[in-house]
Amino acid sequence: MPALVLLGAQWGDEGKGKATDLLGGSVDYVVRYQGGNNAGHTVVVGDQKYALHLLPSGILSPGCTPVIGNGVVVDPSVLLSELSGLNERGVDTSKLLISGNAHIITPYNVTVDKVTERFLGKRKIGTTGRGIGPTYADKINRVGIRVQDLYDESILTQKVEAALDVKNQMLTKLYNRRAIAVGQVVEELLDYADKLAPYVADTVLVLNQALEQDKVVLFEGGQGTLLDIDHGTYPFVTSSNPTAGGACTGAGVGPTKISRVIGILKAYTTRVGAGPFPTELFDEDGEALRRIGGERGVTTGRDRRCGWFDAVIARYATRVNGLTDFFLTKLDVLTGWEQIPVCVAYEIDGRRVEELPYSQTDFHHAKPVYEMLPGWNEDISKAKSFSDLPKNAQAYVKALEEMSGAPISAIGVGPGRTETIEINSFL
Ligand code: IMP
Repeated sequence: MPALVLLGAQWGDEGKGKATDLLGGSVDYVVRYQGGNNAGHTVVVGDQKYALHLLPSGILSPGCTPVIGNGVVVDPSVLLSELSGLNERGVDTSKLLISGNAHIITPYNVTVDKVTERFLGKRKIGTTGRGIGPTYADKINRVGIRVQDLYDESILTQKVEAALDVKNQMLTKLYNRRAIAVGQVVEELLDYADKLAPYVADTVLVLNQALEQDKVVLFEGGQGTLLDIDHGTYPFVTSSNPTAGGACTGAGVGPTKISRVIGILKAYTTRVGAGPFPTELFDEDGEALRRIGGERGVTTGRDRRCGWFDAVIARYATRVNGLTDFFLTKLDVLTGWEQIPVCVAYEIDGRRVEELPYSQTDFHHAKPVYEMLPGWNEDISKAKSFSDLPKNAQAYVKALEEMSGAPISAIGVGPGRTETIEINSFL
């Protein structure tokens, strides 16, 4: 069973870093297939805490080859500083492979992201401001710059010219900003060419050959299902496909090769940025989840919006991703509540609705219908097996599993690498 996809089942920040790292030791390749440095994983190894934005978490496992697939957008300056930060801490990053077809986040894409958000005013998406959307827009408009373009100065210059042609009109005439000089951008990008050269590869070939040799390949999604450009809460989404299908297009691997799709599911819900969030809390419970769960963005430092578990969303994630398993994270954060509300359905304009409505208008009107589950007070961080959990915590997990439509195969009970209960092995 060599190819696994691991992805966020909610709005991102479900604790994927911990899950990928847990598997890292037995995995040969960890592949990012979409997104860019808008993602943020915190991985705890021993007493060391690592915050990764662009690099796959497999970078911390010595036997593992980390891969940045063609579907990712790469900011070279962020990548190089993330690599040197790890090198300074003694992490060997020499095995990293970057697809020559991955698109580059140029400085003007970052500028456009920021000015567009400012221009949108109260209709803004609340992006991470990292240039993600504008870079994907350039890709789809066929004016994107790819990693391989760094190695042909003439082509690079023509492409930057083409990209800036319209953007400079927009920046100067619409946004009242200064035009960006082609030469300056080309010079900056060429400066990255030699530094990135050792990592650039035909990753599609490498990964397919690895799968033919029965190597274990883990595809790691950034963000989460509800932030997917097609299946998320559009337009309050990111500009790529974190859902399972994105692994195929974003890494060049056929769907018949994928054997398991694991959804990372937080025991409650969080969201960063704007957009609908039916179970969001504005009271002291929300504040407590934020504080106890450390719900502050790894990438942006923004406070995350917090709310109770939403089973409607979990069921939707099972469906659109074809999930085979869940990894339930941060169960320990819920310790201490007498009763824990779980959203089992929505009430929309007086109707009870069991499944996520496809209509944006309906979803904006969705009010959670809660079922109350009994809480627990015991410290669960030392639990090693499911039966070590207090009865009410076991019942909470079982209830979530039943409502969500796929087995919960692992449970996170603390931030550390070993603070995980494995119920069914993922490999
Ligand atoms: P963008 O990806 O920077 O374009 O931002 C689009 C939306 O996705 C915003 O609401 C962001 O807050 C959200 N977003 C992007 N990356 C992440 C992530 O890794 N975790 C949670 N939210 C994210």
